[in-house]
Amino acid sequence: MEKLVVTGPTSLKGEVTISGAKNAAVAILPATLLIDGICTIENLPNISDIKISCQILEALGAKIKWNNKNSITIDTTNITTTKAPLDLTSKFRASYYIIGAMLSRMGEIEVGMPGGCKLGARPIDQHIKGFELQGATVTVEKGTIYAKAKKLKGSPVYMDIVSVGATINVMLSAVLAEGTTIIDNAAKEPHVVDVANFLNTMGADIRGAGTDVIKINGVKKLHGNATYSVVPDQIEAGTFMLAAVATRGDLLLKNCITKHLESITAKIVEVGGNVEDYGDSIRVWCNKRPNKANIKTLPYPGFPTDLQPQMGVVLSIANGSSIINESIWESRFQYTEELNKMGAKITAQGKTAFFEGVKKLYGAPVYSSDLRAGAALVIAGTVAEGTTEIYNLEHIDRGYENIEEKFRKIGAKIERVKE
Ligand code: EPU
Repeated sequence: MEKLVVTGPTSLKGEVTISGAKNAAVAILPATLLIDGICTIENLPNISDIKISCQILEALGAKIKWNNKNSITIDTTNITTTKAPLDLTSKFRASYYIIGAMLSRMGEIEVGMPGGCKLGARPIDQHIKGFELQGATVTVEKGTIYAKAKKLKGSPVYMDIVSVGATINVMLSAVLAEGTTIIDNAAKEPHVVDVANFLNTMGADIRGAGTDVIKINGVKKLHGNATYSVVPDQIEAGTFMLAAVATRGDLLLKNCITKHLESITAKIVEVGGNVEDYGDSIRVWCNKRPNKANIKTLPYPGFPTDLQPQMGVVLSIANGSSIINESIWESRFQYTEELNKMGAKITAQGKTAFFEGVKKLYGAPVYSSDLRAGAALVIAGTVAEGTTEIYNLEHIDRGYENIEEKFRKIGAKIERVKE
């Protein structure tokens, strides 16, 4: 078993290069199944979710060559089976994208019910509704999803809730369908736009990604023979921005799209931090105890749920009392119990948490319940006086490339230790 050992307090200072976006990359890799040919994907984050995604594609018949740790060339000319390995697909969330892509490419797929972070109920009814409206039959039995379609047909699809996964999945199934699919009440996240940009580069006809209506005109074939670079990770950038504020540090984040960071920038300014926006890089610094603030998580362009725990660390040491209202996931306050072990005063009830800001956090052994909770605990460990041991690293490794090295380079005293 591995743990991260962080000794604080440290004021983080220096430069961080932001990696490619996990939540775009985990959709772009399955999207390559729509191509009858070869393409190269660059700026891939080197994280365990990407490695599992590659293993699933290889099990389906794709050939993958690693050009370096952040770039692959993938040949999807020969897809040899429609049974995706259940053990791998049930390990992570984004395996649901195999359904949309394989229904479109092969007309059939068997895949394990998706796993991923335990954030409360994570239904996929909107994905299934979209596939069925396009003419597919979908059944779920004993943890396996069986989906079939003779030929998918374009259809209007109204999403009952704004869902990143369902929007991307229906986009994948619509790309090679006969006719036009219109997704109404679509998610607008940067990773939705990035997947559409990737597919359009390969010959798809998708318009309106980034707005709440996306129109996909089905095409006969995607051509491949192109190179695509994954968009910078909005959530990794936001994680370091909040780490700068929490530790009263000064960080320059390179390779980011600052337009995607506006909701975070606004809250950082509200709590008394400073931000300088250079378009493709951003400087964040703070030289005082943060002010209190209230947060409500919302789909993009609102404040992202995936930065709620990291913001929770800032509010736990703020001057005054704050409230966070989590509107996306039922159980995203598990990290607050761990912060309380470190001296925070947080009361979480359902989807609301009350933060009574304390002056200091103190090191303690803590457990990461999910990916973003893990990132929040790394920030908390850097803020805290003494030594923090963080367990359950598999969550952090799913989504952050080399987190300890990136934190070490900006001054954190952090080590990965094997027990
Ligand atoms: N929902 C439904 N039915 C559906 C789909 C979603 O009721 O068919 C509900 C969910 O229960 C949730 C809300 O709709 O309450 C939004 O869920 P969404 O589908 O947008 O989430 P997701 O696609 O499963 C992605 C990210 C999450 C991120 C959410 C929200 C990936 C692989 N995961 O999940 O990322 O929190 O969007 O932005 O893209 C993370 O990276 O740590 C993470 C959890």
